[in-house]
Amino acid sequence: MRGLRRRRRSYEKLQKNQHRQRNGTLSAMSNSNLTAKPWEHAKTSGSEADPLAIRFVESLSYDRRLYRHDIRGSIAHARMLKQVGLIAKADLNAIEHGLAEIMGEIDQQGDAWTGWKIELEDVHMCLEAALIAKIGDPGRKLHTGRSRNDQVALDLKLWIADAAEQLRGKFKALFLALIALAKRDGNIVMPSYTHLQRAQPIVAGAEIMAWLTAFDRARHRLDALLHINRNNPLGSGAIAGSALPLDRDVTAFTLDLGEPSPSSIDATASRDVAIDLAYALSMTAMWLSRWAEQWIIYLSSEFGFLTIGEAYTTGSSMMPQKRNPDMLELIRGRCGNAYGHLVGLLTMCKGITIGYNRDLQEDKRQLFAAYDMVCDSLDMAARIVATAKFQEDRIASTLDRGHLDATALAEYLVTRGVPFRTAHQIVGKLVRQAGDKPLSSLDLQAFQTACQEAGQPAACDQTVYDWLSASNVVRRYQSRGNAGVTGFQEQLAAWEQRFAAAPQARP
Ligand code: ARG
Repeated sequence: MRGLRRRRRSYEKLQKNQHRQRNGTLSAMSNSNLTAKPWEHAKTSGSEADPLAIRFVESLSYDRRLYRHDIRGSIAHARMLKQVGLIAKADLNAIEHGLAEIMGEIDQQGDAWTGWKIELEDVHMCLEAALIAKIGDPGRKLHTGRSRNDQVALDLKLWIADAAEQLRGKFKALFLALIALAKRDGNIVMPSYTHLQRAQPIVAGAEIMAWLTAFDRARHRLDALLHINRNNPLGSGAIAGSALPLDRDVTAFTLDLGEPSPSSIDATASRDVAIDLAYALSMTAMWLSRWAEQWIIYLSSEFGFLTIGEAYTTGSSMMPQKRNPDMLELIRGRCGNAYGHLVGLLTMCKGITIGYNRDLQEDKRQLFAAYDMVCDSLDMAARIVATAKFQEDRIASTLDRGHLDATALAEYLVTRGVPFRTAHQIVGKLVRQAGDKPLSSLDLQAFQTACQEAGQPAACDQTVYDWLSASNVVRRYQSRGNAGVTGFQEQLAAWEQRFAAAPQARP
């Protein structure tokens, strides 16, 4: 009985502690008065803030990573205010110095910066409050003609431009690793698969070129989305613009955003740029996942086509012999998270009226999570590729299975004047005849009889053997972009040229 009471008491203590810890995180971020929001003058005085409401509404915990972009936008805004005569030169100087100091402080102190106060809700209010605390009245002029609604729309655009630049670097690292692998192992002859059934022979490099082509398309979506969304939301205010003589062309120019956005309502209401990036990230994640799945199959002992560095495999806690491709599985698995964030963003936008709604604050939570995840997956993919080795002997030992040269045999017959459909029929028959053995094991008599029976008596002679076997076939492909020797070499040369021409340039 006493034991039971003791257990209940210690449980209650635990609960109380957990509660304290949770609220402690709140107050650790803040050392000022929880009831005061400096911009909420319309509130009945004396009304108490609910700590849960403060935690519920805040975005500071995730939007503080925008601080550099917010400061950049504020400086551009202040310079414009000075240019149109809304603030004095001395105000601008104080604002610029104050913001530069704040940026330096945050660069150094990060999350420990004392200006982060959760009751101020977000990065914008924290920076403004810190500026006012530092420089006084000039700081109070910074928000002239501006709302957090156009401010956050701008910050997001600036952040996305930087994120795209980071992603370009990560794509480039992956491209270079794939190119290096293709240069070393690319001429290895291997089967290709449709329906995961053996199809036609290819060289390994051609498959690597396929991944490169797909990843490159994913990368180009970054350029496309920056192009479509390139305009400046700043100066749109809360929804309707401003009665003050703001010059939005000036801020657009300073921030390298082309033009002012055409509609103040749309500029503050839309999050298309975030959704576009989430889509670009999802497509990247999808291709990474598909590549990961292919390599997981190649790494299985049933295939054994490939090895990767041990650092990118893990053991089993029970089965001592195991090396599992967990990193590739996680690249595949995390793709679903990217889709989730994309759908989250789309759903967030579908039911809100035109104009800012607080729902939109969630955009950053979704986008940052998708971005961080895809960055990690791209980095991991590049490292895995750098350690990969195609297993030539193992692959070669399987090449005689599955009649990979059957299509080439039909094309040989076409070169001898046989209509393709008839050739297809002849080869089908020969495949059945060969059974488990390769087509090249049939004697000439067998080929000639099959042709004769199809009404093509002169279609086949000794030269047929030059068209059989995987290594002959990969040398015969001649259509542009083919997956054999010539197609691979042409594609590889184009990739190498792209980087040789401007090694420092964007991929
Ligand atoms: N933290 C907000 C967000 O990320 C900033 C805009 C708030 N605007 C407002 N009117 N409450 O969306």
